[in-house]
Amino acid sequence: MPGRGPPRSLPLLVVALLACHMVGATDLSDATLFARKPVSEQLPLHHPRLTQTCGPDPASPEQVHLSLAGPGAIAFNWVTARQGRASSMFWSLGRRVARAARTLGKYHCKGVSSVQYGFASGDYTGRVDGRAPACYSVDDYDSGVLHEVIVGRGAEGPLPANTTVYYRVSGAREGVWGEESSFVTPPPLGVDSLPYRLGVVGDLGQTEDSLSTLEHLVATDPQSVVLVGDLSYADGDHRRWDAWARMVSPLTSRWLWMFTEGNHERERARGVPDWLAYTTRFHLPHASAGSASPLYYSYDVAGAHVVMLGSYTDHDAHSEQAAWLAADLAAVDRARTPWVVVTMHAPFYSSNLAHLGEGEPMRAGMERLLNQHGVDVVFAGHVHAYERSLRVVDGQLDDCGPVYINIGDGGNREGPDTRWLDRPRWSAWREPSFGHGALDLLNATHAVWTWRRNADAIRAQGPQHAADSVTLVRTDCSLGDAGLAAAR
Ligand SMILES: [Fe+2]
Repeated sequence: MPGRGPPRSLPLLVVALLACHMVGATDLSDATLFARKPVSEQLPLHHPRLTQTCGPDPASPEQVHLSLAGPGAIAFNWVTARQGRASSMFWSLGRRVARAARTLGKYHCKGVSSVQYGFASGDYTGRVDGRAPACYSVDDYDSGVLHEVIVGRGAEGPLPANTTVYYRVSGAREGVWGEESSFVTPPPLGVDSLPYRLGVVGDLGQTEDSLSTLEHLVATDPQSVVLVGDLSYADGDHRRWDAWARMVSPLTSRWLWMFTEGNHERERARGVPDWLAYTTRFHLPHASAGSASPLYYSYDVAGAHVVMLGSYTDHDAHSEQAAWLAADLAAVDRARTPWVVVTMHAPFYSSNLAHLGEGEPMRAGMERLLNQHGVDVVFAGHVHAYERSLRVVDGQLDDCGPVYINIGDGGNREGPDTRWLDRPRWSAWREPSFGHGALDLLNATHAVWTWRRNADAIRAQGPQHAADSVTLVRTDCSLGDAGLAAAR
């Protein structure tokens, strides 16, 4: 079966050739002497990066977010202001009347959701209309109109691979359109599409440090991005969801950004469904991945199968999520997508005192599946520091285990987590500085991981400019019998 590792009694030569190899395996570093910034406050809501910037017309669309919605399909999510809402006059009449007025305001949660697109600037040869938009209200907050359109899944047919698509999304009134933007569709699935660069960010928030992370990410120029949870740190203030989406929109409107949920996406307020903003504002392609929950799903891109796991839903060995993961990993065609990347929010392995042990129940329930199916790399966040492991299985160094990378250092308002345990043997590099990373999948067997700290100068991507860089070589376990034959 592709992806399942062969017995470990492989000929020594093959093991020597293909066994897990971390360039710089002795690169143990605490980098504790590095000067770190203190905690930074959240940007004020009137900060220019957090305010509507899509034009003077209040009907202009904003907060555009692109994501992969399946093979050849792209999801467009964006927001427009509710039009014609006259509830403000009711506010002076008291809370009960105001609430009734907002109920009436739901009538105004409407508008056409349309995307015009084409393959040359200004030449829109296609148009796709979406479903009826959504809205929600929490206390005295009314969301804007939340639009979603999926292009490439309907009669228009899948979008061509590796192609620049120019597009604009509809505004709140007929005839109003947003400014044109563009993105490049993913390359065809398969190893022939490598190299491919995946940007990785965690625990981003909305501070000056978050902006620095985004600036550095622009220089990295990834082909798509995964954000491993804790997006906005809105924590019940839903204006902060709008502010965060505006902050990231210059990037989320031109690259595909895939999310997994963190604890800060959970609403935990009376009368408010869990994950309300997270699951209403963004497309989470669980249905196309055979997952019953938006809190875990997977997708393929270029030569990688990427699995987005949910740390905050059932995750023991007998859970629905574990059953889904087992089926998902068993179905991976390693000849087509040789790299298997898993993300989650709460890490299985961390030697930081912050959130110590929080990922342990999920590790106990699901680590076995990752090892059994030869997962190559696991990204997590939650701990606001950077840490990279050697290959590890059940706490012990093991050539057949994944490399675990914690990258919860996107720059949120809670600041870096600076307290460490004594270094375990599996911990290869750890540093409580803000930054981001990139995984360059070079071919079927080799990849380069780089971590870049915000305090360093913004430079073009490259291992020579990274604070931490390592070459990952797929193991004999990850390659499986078919992979080994091909590698020979
Ligand atoms: Fe978190």
